[in-house]
Amino acid sequence: MKTVLITGANKGIGFETAKQLAQMGYFVYLGSRDKTKGMDAINKLKDLGISNVALIELDVTNINSIKQARQELETKIETLDVLINNAGISGGQPQNFTVHNIDNLRKVFETNFFGVIQTTQQFLGLLEKSNEPVIVNVSSSLGSLTLHSSRQNPDFDIYDVYSSSKTALNAFTVMLANDLRNTNFKINSVCPGYTATDLNQFQGTQTVEQAANIVIKYVTLENIGTGKSFNKDGEVAW
Ligand SMILES: NC(=O)c1ccc[n+]([C@@H]2O[C@H](COP(=O)([O-])OP(=O)(O)OC[C@H]3O[C@@H](n4cnc5c(N)ncnc54)[C@H](OP(=O)(O)O)[C@@H]3O)[C@@H](O)[C@H]2O)c1
Repeated sequence: MKTVLITGANKGIGFETAKQLAQMGYFVYLGSRDKTKGMDAINKLKDLGISNVALIELDVTNINSIKQARQELETKIETLDVLINNAGISGGQPQNFTVHNIDNLRKVFETNFFGVIQTTQQFLGLLEKSNEPVIVNVSSSLGSLTLHSSRQNPDFDIYDVYSSSKTALNAFTVMLANDLRNTNFKINSVCPGYTATDLNQFQGTQTVEQAANIVIKYVTLENIGTGKSFNKDGEVAW
């Protein structure tokens, strides 16, 4: 049975991705920074008859929490096949760089960028033992500088902080993929699409089911290459 760890899986897209992957036969470790919320999520899955899941307490901004999570996982499994770096925050509003508070900008990068890197570093050892290790960084089309430069979408002007954190995340994706180019790792950024979750006060136009389908496509597709950025329509320009 393949194993997967999903950060921020107690709700939203992460939770639905965990549910669908478990239904497909993966053993899913649901990362949650809050133990109670994490257990509630596990119990929801168990109520649906899904038992191939377990909770891993993990705050991506806290290196001690990530190390503890890694040590706990090492006692349970020898190999991790998939890491989905899903945990993310939006940073609230307004986000215009002309006025935005630097402390809040740092907070968003702590989760969406530094958090992903320090989490990935801690789990690389377990992933390396897989024959086909996969890392999906849950990003956003808002991270595309090409789309920002073309200025065709007004939304691209109001999420400076969030968007730039995802641009940085995309840089991590392509550079880590290059660092590991002589291995079997597949490392990609995936945009799940504008989805109704807490992140956007449920304003998103897609369902979590649709979003999870997109994330899972890039977990399971065999010929996708590595170091790329995808959304529901295919490859996204950097
Ligand atoms: N929704 C969209 O339209 C959309 C579009 C493009 C990309 N995305 C991306 O999709 C991912 C999931 O977002 P979502 O829409 O499902 O949002 P969500 O419902 O707000 O879920 C975010 C998850 O991340 C967790 N999280 C936040 N900070 C964390 C930390 N420091 N350590 C560990 N977990 C943390 C949250 O935990 P708590 O419950 O404890 O807060 C929650 O489980 C994010 O990376 C987001 O940027 C979303």
